Amino acid sequence: MTDSVRRSDGEPPTQTVTGDGADPTGVLPADWPAAGVTAEVAADSTIADVDVIRVSGGARLAGEVHVVGAKNSALKLMAVALLAPGRSVITNVPRITDIAIMGEVLRRLGCEVSFGEDNGTSTGTIEGIPVVGVADGVPVEVPPVDGAGPVRDVASTASGEAQAAVDLGALPGRARTVTIDVPAEPGTDADYDLVRRLRASICVLGPLLARRGYVRVAHPGGDAIGSRGLDMHVSGLARMGAEISGSHGFVIASAPNGLRGATIWLDFPSVGATENLVMAAVLAKGTTEIDNAAREPEIVDICTMLSAMGAKIEGAGTSTIRIEGVSELRPVQHRTVGDRIVAGTWAFAAAMTQGDVTVTGASPSFLEIALDKVISAGGLVETRTDAFRVRMDRRPTAVDVVTLPFPGFATDLLPMAIGMASVSEGASLITENIFDGRFMFVNEMARLGADIKTDGHHAVVRGRERLSSAPVRATDIRAGAGLVIAGLCADGVTEISHVHHVDRGYPDFVADLRALGVEVERTTAPAEQNFSL
Ligand code: EPU
Repeated sequence: MTDSVRRSDGEPPTQTVTGDGADPTGVLPADWPAAGVTAEVAADSTIADVDVIRVSGGARLAGEVHVVGAKNSALKLMAVALLAPGRSVITNVPRITDIAIMGEVLRRLGCEVSFGEDNGTSTGTIEGIPVVGVADGVPVEVPPVDGAGPVRDVASTASGEAQAAVDLGALPGRARTVTIDVPAEPGTDADYDLVRRLRASICVLGPLLARRGYVRVAHPGGDAIGSRGLDMHVSGLARMGAEISGSHGFVIASAPNGLRGATIWLDFPSVGATENLVMAAVLAKGTTEIDNAAREPEIVDICTMLSAMGAKIEGAGTSTIRIEGVSELRPVQHRTVGDRIVAGTWAFAAAMTQGDVTVTGASPSFLEIALDKVISAGGLVETRTDAFRVRMDRRPTAVDVVTLPFPGFATDLLPMAIGMASVSEGASLITENIFDGRFMFVNEMARLGADIKTDGHHAVVRGRERLSSAPVRATDIRAGAGLVIAGLCADGVTEISHVHHVDRGYPDFVADLRALGVEVERTTAPAEQNFSL
């Protein structure tokens, strides 16, 4: 591992997850999971009902589960579409809250965005451009599927007004096809009411600056997993000639004469900064080299779509990405890479419950270290190109885990690693190197009886034979999923509240659990009582 690693020894932020509620902006299509106000939103004195998952412990997961496209790819692929006027289509997009919010971000930039059925495969070509995607880290052409139906438009409005009338309930499946019609001159503003709910909307910074020479995006602030800086996004764009300022909670960038290629060294292989800089560089004049770039499969996916659009990119998936700017890009159809984090979640859930689960739709090559941890814990793992099977016949043995940028162990799987450690034989040392607040959820794990001590960015977990069911609260997407699967190893029924966080990353989590043999239900708990003086 040659990448520099950003250590995070600071105290966890004192601001934790607060208020929840219905969707005040009416952004979400009717059948999408309700998005409570997310972690970035300040406390609200009127606390609405909360969504709750109740899961019975003692389950042994068994069966097959299919994983759709990666949230962290699909969100950025939607931003990539901004780089070319005309209609781009992205398939295998997960049906989750964050995607609906990103759709609204694009609508407000003047795009027409519609969500259609996805039949699980890609559908032919657009104007002769083949469907592309990523398998095993290698860009591939996806062959058109015989008899595949056309993408069905279900909502097509630049203003988003028609959203309320759209009934997506009839559409089956966990994946959607997103059709984005981008105008010749997209808007330049992304406001706080959406950016605070979807931090990833900062990814419109690079493409809009490249296309319009000016952009004003609300600063997303920190969230429940950490402080989440933007300095590398900003300094990289500045190297490409942008003037950047901050004012009244907005990041404002301008490059009236266009961006120019530059050599950029990232202090840390930031996923978001790499993405923003790649999306800016594809239309810059001259050559850009990004050193110490992030190497995540989602970066490769974005670069694959960009290359199909006509961008000239070399080195995606390595620490040095070279981009030769072009004057324009054309729209394309692209299939989102499978979600390695959702797939990894099932791998740990299978191991923890001494189960037998086959996961399809995501490449095990993106999960090598995570699956190796499962093997070291005593699991048997069989792999195919886009699927794997995890079997565990006994209580897991404790293993140590260190999170690192890809290809290291993913920080987003840290809660699952802590879950497995909590029921393993022996003690595990878990080290988090990416987010300073990632351990905040261990207080909830302690309510389930887990024996965890944290010190800075280390946690020592002493495994217990069984956890003890209790009401707990999800604080972010991955912590929420981690608590649900920890509940599988508790005696009795564990109630996880605020599971709208889980909806942000896992389409139909409850249905998947049920299909794997878990006794689980989802309900709404009444509003917490407010007290006054
Ligand atoms: N950082 C800076 N300055 C910057 C950029 C990043 O200090 O300019 C710091 C961040 O504060 C953080 C670390 O670097 O401590 C990593 O940030 P990075 O930019 O790599 O992450 P990100 O782009 O903000 C994405 C995913 C996260 C995932 C991380 C790491 C999306 C929408 N989010 O975040 O996913 O954990 O990469 O792999 O792609 C999730 O899905 O639940 C999630 C949090």
